[in-house]
Amino acid sequence: MLPTVAWQDNVVVMVDQRKLPGQEVYVRCKTAKEVARAISTMVIRGAPAIGVAAAMGIAVGMRRSQATGTRQFAVEFNQTCDLMAGTRPTAVNLFWAIARMKHVFGAAALAGSSVDDLKAQLEREAHAIHDEDVAACRAIGHHGATVVPERARILTHCNAGALATAGYGTALGVIRAAAAQGRVAAVFADETRPFLQGARLTAWELVREGIPTTVIADSMAGPLMRQGGLDFVVVGADRIAANGDVANKIGTYTVAMMAKAHGVPFYVAAPLSTIDRATPDGSGIPIEQRSAREITHLGPKQVVPDGAAVWNPAFDVTPHELVVGIITEVGIASPPYAASLAALFDAADSAVARPVTSGSKG
Ligand code: MRU
Repeated sequence: MLPTVAWQDNVVVMVDQRKLPGQEVYVRCKTAKEVARAISTMVIRGAPAIGVAAAMGIAVGMRRSQATGTRQFAVEFNQTCDLMAGTRPTAVNLFWAIARMKHVFGAAALAGSSVDDLKAQLEREAHAIHDEDVAACRAIGHHGATVVPERARILTHCNAGALATAGYGTALGVIRAAAAQGRVAAVFADETRPFLQGARLTAWELVREGIPTTVIADSMAGPLMRQGGLDFVVVGADRIAANGDVANKIGTYTVAMMAKAHGVPFYVAAPLSTIDRATPDGSGIPIEQRSAREITHLGPKQVVPDGAAVWNPAFDVTPHELVVGIITEVGIASPPYAASLAALFDAADSAVARPVTSGSKG
């Protein structure tokens, strides 16, 4: 499995996703500032991976703190959390991971932990966030494979794979699990303008595993559906509102509209950490605007004339009416989502609360 982000000798190591597939280069972040920069410059991207990187960034940053007293340590901890929170606004996993780190910090500080104990607990929590994400992706794959038709021709948009998570992937987790069961005839990857996550990253992941992959320009998905060339669509998410509206990579909304028009089931695969129960609907999701250069240039070459204005929202919101199901690690939610997503959280809470007895399969 691809090493998206790892903790090695107290350094956060990430494969530089801007350079894939041409070069496999690893970036070593020794400070929280370096991790924050890696997130905002897209060395690492994808909602769950951003959350994991931020947690590790906080842990690595606080490990280097020279503070001797807990009061000064707390000041630095809050500054480090603020630094991470300023990196990318849409992926809610970032804020979820920071909240988890704050929760652990608060509980440990209240219990009177020393600075060294606090450092150790932050590091442990970052590792837990990483490991839980891999497990969640595997479970998403397991649930998602059950709704993939036999001999499916599947479309995905952007990259919601191992590279976008701690490993295995969400939408690509579903595709991987279905492929392992022999259910996948073909995968079509939208190239995903302007950053080309589909062409560069999704195709790279799938080809490495021998899953038959065809890259198409984003504008080709509609005609492909019209020709009857697709049976199933699965994408990831950066943030899902309480009513099931889904923010994901720009272009997802168009794919969902096309899928609805052509009767192709459109599914979203995401861990519960991507569901933002505090945001009632998609209108409350902040959409990141990225640099005009992503549109005006192809690599170093300028393709848009000087003087043309550029609009470059990194994400769009797909209304819940277009989504057939939301595949999570605890099961698949169906409309109406306000109720079904809440029920999945209840199920997850009671699974955590349930005592594990010997012989239990969990
Ligand atoms: O701008 P990016 O590359 O971070 O956007 C990533 C996406 O939109 C993914 O589809 C989403 O984060 C889900 S990743 C499992």
